Amino acid sequence: IAAKLADGPLKGKRILVTSGPTHEPIDPVRYIANRSSGAQGAAVARALRELGAEVVFITGPAAVRPPEGVQVVPVESAREMEAAVQAALPADAGVFAAAVADWRVASASDRKLKKSKDGLPVLEFAENPDILKTVSQMKDGRPPLVVGFAAETNDVVENATAKRKRKGCDWIVANDVSPATGIMGGSENAVILISDGGAEEWPRMGKDEVARRLAERIAAALAG
Ligand code: CTP
Ligand code: CA
Repeated sequence: IAAKLADGPLKGKRILVTSGPTHEPIDPVRYIANRSSGAQGAAVARALRELGAEVVFITGPAAVRPPEGVQVVPVESAREMEAAVQAALPADAGVFAAAVADWRVASASDRKLKKSKDGLPVLEFAENPDILKTVSQMKDGRPPLVVGFAAETNDVVENATAKRKRKGCDWIVANDVSPATGIMGGSENAVILISDGGAEEWPRMGKDEVARRLAERIAAALAG
């Protein structure tokens, strides 16, 4: 199998993938997180590997297992994820599928907050680094192809198109994650691929199939 994998169209290409949620500590036993299962990111990493890529898989605490055959870099927080991404560069492409927490608790306590003594906790937030934006706007060593994801609950194409501009990435894989779609935590996805060429709507399909199609597009882009 290893020999077969190595022969794919992405042979010799190094691709980093971020995936999963991040956990932002409140104190040593509590954290803030989000509902990402990490399923789509893991599927993308697997699909890239199956096309022969060398994959660095930087994952927050996900509900799904990382794929076989990739270099797994487990992280907890957004700031750890950013450091792991920087350490994994250079790369031929970066796929940023992680649901990075936008905010962290400004000063996490190094001891457990206690009910009786401390009263109601008041959490102050600080903004996390925008990993996709930082990498997209690198002057030196930017991966030739940078792919972001955009989970939206409304005005998906408008929001994701603006997001692509603002961040400076090449493609955005946008999806509607309103609870009614069942996409968050489910096995299917309905995405719109936004690039220079506009918005391309893909039919609803399994997350594995979305991943395979995306991997093929990445292979084509890196070959051309
Ligand atoms: N992203 C990132 N680092 C962050 C936040 C987001 O790398 N701190 C990446 C995600 O992995 C995804 C893309 O940016 O590829 C878009 O994430 P999203 O949360 O949709 O964008 P935000 O800029 O955080 O905007 P919003 O206010 O809609 O959450
Ligand atoms: Ca966000």
